[in-house]
Amino acid sequence: MSLYAIGDLHLHYQSELKAKAQLKDPLWIDHEEKFKENCRRLLEDDDTLVLVGDHSWGKDLSQCEKDFEYIRSLPGRKILTRGNHDMFWEVNKTSKLNEQFNPDLIFLQGGYETYGDYALVASKGYSFEGPFYLDKKGKVIGYDESQAKHAEKLVEREAKRLIASFEKAKADGYNKFIMFIHYPPTNILEKDSVFTKIAATYNVSQVIYAHVHGKTRFHDSIEGKYRGREYSLVSGDYLNWIPKKIM
Ligand SMILES: [Fe+2]
Ligand SMILES: [Fe+2]
Repeated sequence: MSLYAIGDLHLHYQSELKAKAQLKDPLWIDHEEKFKENCRRLLEDDDTLVLVGDHSWGKDLSQCEKDFEYIRSLPGRKILTRGNHDMFWEVNKTSKLNEQFNPDLIFLQGGYETYGDYALVASKGYSFEGPFYLDKKGKVIGYDESQAKHAEKLVEREAKRLIASFEKAKADGYNKFIMFIHYPPTNILEKDSVFTKIAATYNVSQVIYAHVHGKTRFHDSIEGKYRGREYSLVSGDYLNWIPKKIM
């Protein structure tokens, strides 16, 4: 029994591909087939696969049916968390999604799932992505302050959601946690954030995040051991479509 994670499948069997780079970048060519093969090679039926957001380019559920069919066909128990591109998934419709796709897919938002004696807690998260202003050497010398203010509100909302989920798990007696957020835990200027603090408060052993694409962004945030916990970036193109074994 193992726990795996990967994010950003960005499937588009029925919808318009919004990121044109996805068509040209060799990392994305036939990524669905590569990923399926890797899953079949690595995962057993009693394994759990957490998909950390940005599942589909579909604008609504009707444009995601084939994408979900694909996800259903992967081995193991599948847990999906929210990403910024998941237009089919409004927070208050999470229980509806779970009813509709039970028992094949689990949509995790506003609660927790379990893996052994661990509670898996998830939310989209948020981090400020600029615009940043750079000098000639590429060093950040400023940023758009109104956008930063807006980002603060989103960070606050996501942090509240995450804390509520931790509290639920805690009230049910869990004290071992793995935290999944779609956005990186910090932006490129931060060493700590609300999210690293939440991870510390609940003493999570691992923080798993995705969202960043392309070589220039892979190292935007924390990776590896940091202040006593493990941080892992699991966006699919970063992992070359090999799901990462978390536990
Ligand atoms: Fe993405
Ligand atoms: Fe994303």
